[in-house]
Amino acid sequence: MELKNVLLEKEGNLAIVTINRPKALNALNSETLADLDIVITDLENDNDIYCVILTGSGEKAFVAGADIAEMKDLNEKQGKEFGILGNKVFRRLENLGKPVIAAISGFALGGGCELAMSCDIRIASERARFGQPEAGLGITPGFGGTQRLPRIVGIGKAKELIYTGAIIKADEALRIGLVNKVVTLESLMEEAKAMANMIIANAPIAVKLCKDAINRGMQVGIDSAIVIEAEDFGKCFATEDQVEGMGAFIERRTKNFQNK
Ligand code: CAA
Repeated sequence: MELKNVLLEKEGNLAIVTINRPKALNALNSETLADLDIVITDLENDNDIYCVILTGSGEKAFVAGADIAEMKDLNEKQGKEFGILGNKVFRRLENLGKPVIAAISGFALGGGCELAMSCDIRIASERARFGQPEAGLGITPGFGGTQRLPRIVGIGKAKELIYTGAIIKADEALRIGLVNKVVTLESLMEEAKAMANMIIANAPIAVKLCKDAINRGMQVGIDSAIVIEAEDFGKCFATEDQVEGMGAFIERRTKNFQNK
């Protein structure tokens, strides 16, 4: 696996993915998106990884957006292709069969905010800044921002942020539900790992099916959504970890999940 702008580290059942273009504030060019695509495939196929933390290199930025230098001279067809590429990779991340926690130190702007929104959970440092400044560059958000931001914060707030291009601080992002938690910059990775370890302690297949039920269920009406939930709930009863989890409870012993 040859990666140019993304780092992949594995610590036990946890993977840490770092967007690593600090000189460009980790801006997403097509090379970086290709790296991310490769990493997602690796994570999907690695049965020992139960949870992922996605972060940016350096303290200044998570990701400062899609790469403006690369986008500057695109024509309509190329612009559409770049949008499709980003959306394809981000959708794969959103659908990855294990939770992804975004650990956001600094700027999460444009494609950076969109990348964070493709993760399951967002933990921000007090210094983090969020926004969709695309309209000020003469474009729309192109990696899911017009779709995920209203789904997360509601249509009115999403329209305000996207039309104005306002950059908001971490406490405001917390207030509107864009992030789950705000912590000090120094404790960011520690907090993300603490949450990841709580997830890792649970049955991985059950967590995967929870993610599937929430993600798919949120896109359909409630009557279809509860059908999805019932299917996923049923699948758990075909796993060894359900037998282990419930057995350990009944027998009052420590559980030992096997991801089976
Ligand atoms: N693309 C390419 N390069 C970027 C970048 C981006 N999105 N953001 C920052 N950089 C580069 C700068 O060009 C600069 O490079 P040089 O040192 O070679 O000049 C380097 O990173 C450091 O940036 P600044 O000097 O600008 O740092 P600053 O502290 O003065 O400002 C900032 C920080 C406010 C984040 C500012 O860099 C900024 O506004 N960046 C752009 C943010 C933005 O508009 N993002 C949206 C992009 S469009 C998009 O994402 C479309 C989409 O939805 C798919």
